[in-house]
Formats: sequence, structure tokens, C-alpha cells
Amino acid sequence: MDQSSHIKGKVCVTGASGFLASWLIKQLLKSGYHVIGTVRDPGNYRKLSHLWELEGAKERLQLVKADLLDEGSFDEAVLGCQGVFHTASPVFGPQNGSKSEIMDSAVNGTLNVLKSCKRNPSLRRVVLTSSSSAVRVKEKIDPNYPLDESSWSSVELCERLKLWYALAKILAERIAWEFAKENDIDLVTVLPSFIIGPNLPNDLSLTASNVLGFLKGETKEFSLYGRMGYVHIDDVARCHIIVYEDLAAKGRYICSSVVLDNNELGALVAKRYPWLPIPTRFDDYYEGKITQYTFNTSKLHNMGFKFKGIEEMFDDYIQSLKDKGSDI
Ligand SMILES: NC(=O)c1ccc[n+]([C@@H]2O[C@H](COP(=O)([O-])OP(=O)(O)OC[C@H]3O[C@@H](n4cnc5c(N)ncnc54)[C@H](OP(=O)(O)O)[C@@H]3O)[C@@H](O)[C@H]2O)c1
Repeated sequence: MDQSSHIKGKVCVTGASGFLASWLIKQLLKSGYHVIGTVRDPGNYRKLSHLWELEGAKERLQLVKADLLDEGSFDEAVLGCQGVFHTASPVFGPQNGSKSEIMDSAVNGTLNVLKSCKRNPSLRRVVLTSSSSAVRVKEKIDPNYPLDESSWSSVELCERLKLWYALAKILAERIAWEFAKENDIDLVTVLPSFIIGPNLPNDLSLTASNVLGFLKGETKEFSLYGRMGYVHIDDVARCHIIVYEDLAAKGRYICSSVVLDNNELGALVAKRYPWLPIPTRFDDYYEGKITQYTFNTSKLHNMGFKFKGIEEMFDDYIQSLKDKGSDI
């Protein structure tokens, strides 16, 4: 097929080497986009080789060096792009990483990317990857009212519990909304819950290795909160593209298929893969502490969006491990 016949335009994806960004780039290339991916170390072949193997990469993928900590670093990458998908951010466990380390790259980094976007006259829209942790960390949640896009996590609670990752996601998203408003940038944000699915990079991302630990019976506390939303990586990537392409898309989009207690997740997954030593009881850890929240995802549903189920998330993840030679 003549590649030029279905080219859709030029977009930039920050943090191209990452778990989500790699899958997003795979889908963008498949649908005909020209993609500029930003990476910190373009010479790191092991970290980037999977991107060059993607369909369309040789013709329509370019990798450019950029670091969230350097102002102006993204100027070259975003120049001439109609769309910018800002996924790059340090990803740590709920209470890991130092506060300043996370804040610097997540919050100042987001501002740096947006400042570069402002200097790009071709820009049409920015899609920022936020997180459901910017929605669900709250002192009191009424279980009768699923959390929707109007909900913001409590900064005070994150500070008190030292949840630096969640705090960084809240503050990065907030600053992005402020900057976009002041500078007339068309911004849409995607708020995924815990992402599960095939891991394209050669090394497992933090979330993918947490899931592997869970499947091997090594993780005793799968979700610190006892309850978590889950979403297939393919849905998260697809959601980014849909909210970029749909001119009517506006505001925040919670991207989550299902919310489960750890015990529910353990029982469900253990039944499906009985040969794996998956823990089915987590009572010691969180009994009585669970907040019974769910998510209202009608904003995406109303756009015709359908989520894959938890079974497909695990099936596809396990299959991808087997494809890479794991004997799981
Ligand atoms: N995974 C989940 O379950 C989940 C759920 C909700 C939201 N999210 C959000 O989705 C996005 C991607 O997450 P992921 O799971 O794909 O994580 P990941 O695999 O760790 O990817 C994160 C990316 O950010 C880049 N990055 C980190 N610090 C940087 C810096 N100072 N300058 C430039 N790039 C930097 C990394 O680049 P290097 O390769 O150079 O380190 C990496 O490519 C993040 O914004 C995360 O908060 C993830």
C-alpha cells in the first residue's frame, strides 16, 4: 500500500520508550501518523529497538532527544506537529521516590512541554496523560456516587500520606489546565487507572513488573488502597487517539474498565490461571480500610467507546510474556 495515501499528519509523543507511549506509537503509526518520539537517550539501542520494529516505523518514526528537566528541550520535537501526546513522567510506586524528584520532572516537566507547544504555530491539540490517582485519593467518597471527571484528589491527603506520585499527577494536571487556559492551548487530559496489557519494551515497566509479581505470588499488597481500577493498554492508547481526533472532545476523560478489591481480583485471576500461585486473600493488609469507590466513565461511553475486560488484560499480558520466552 502507498504509505503517503493514508498519512494523517505529524504528532509528537513524549517519553517514547515507555510502556504506554510505545503502545500509543504502535497505534499512531498503524493509523498513518508521522510520529516524533522524544527520548532521553537516543543511543540506548536496548531501550528503543522495539520501536524500530513497529509497522511503519522506518518510514514515519523519528526519535529526538529531550529531557523534562531542561526548559526548551522539547522545542525541536514539537515544532511542526499538529498534536502533542505528553505521556512522559516519572512513574513510581505510591509511596516511592522523593517528593522533589517527582515534582521536578512531572510538574515542571509538564510546564516545559507546554511552553514548547506554545512556541509551535502548527499546534492543534495537546493530550496529556494524567491518572485516576488525580481523581480518587479522597478522605470521604460516597460509594453511591461513582467518581467522575469533576472529582479531584485531595492534595492535603496526598501530602499527609506521602503519596508523591499521586500528588505529582494532580499538580501536573492542574498546572497544565492553568497554562493552557492562559495561553489558549487546546488541551484534553486522559486519566487511566492501573494499566495492564502487553509490554512492548525489552524491560518490564514498573506496573508490568508489579503485575508479574502478583501472578508469581510475590506481591502481598497489590494495591496499597485495597481497591483499584484497571484498564487494557490498548484501550488507553485508543482513548488518547480518539480524544485527539474528535474535535468535540473537551476536558478530562477517566479511562478505566473495572474497579476491583484485591480479593476480587485475586479470586478472578487465580481461577483463570489455576497453575499460577496467585494470592487470593489480602485481608491482613487492608481489612476495613477500603474505600468502595467506582468510576463513572459515561463520558467515554457516550463517544461509543467500549472497554476490554479484565480477562483480556491478563490474557494479553501473559501471552506477551510467553511470546518473549517466559515460561509463566
Ligand atoms: N502504568 C500505569 O498503570 C499508569 C496509570 C495511569 C497513568 N499513567 C501515566 O502514563 C504515563 C506513562 O506511564 P508508563 O507506565 O508508560 O511509565 P514508563 O514505562 O515508566 O514510562 C515513563 C516515560 O517517562 C519518561 N521520563 C521519565 N522521566 C523523564 C525525564 N526527566 N525526561 C524525559 N522523559 C522522562 C521515561 O523515559 P526514560 O525511558 O528515559 O526513563 C519513560 O519513557 C505516565 O504519565 C503515567 O503517570 C500510567
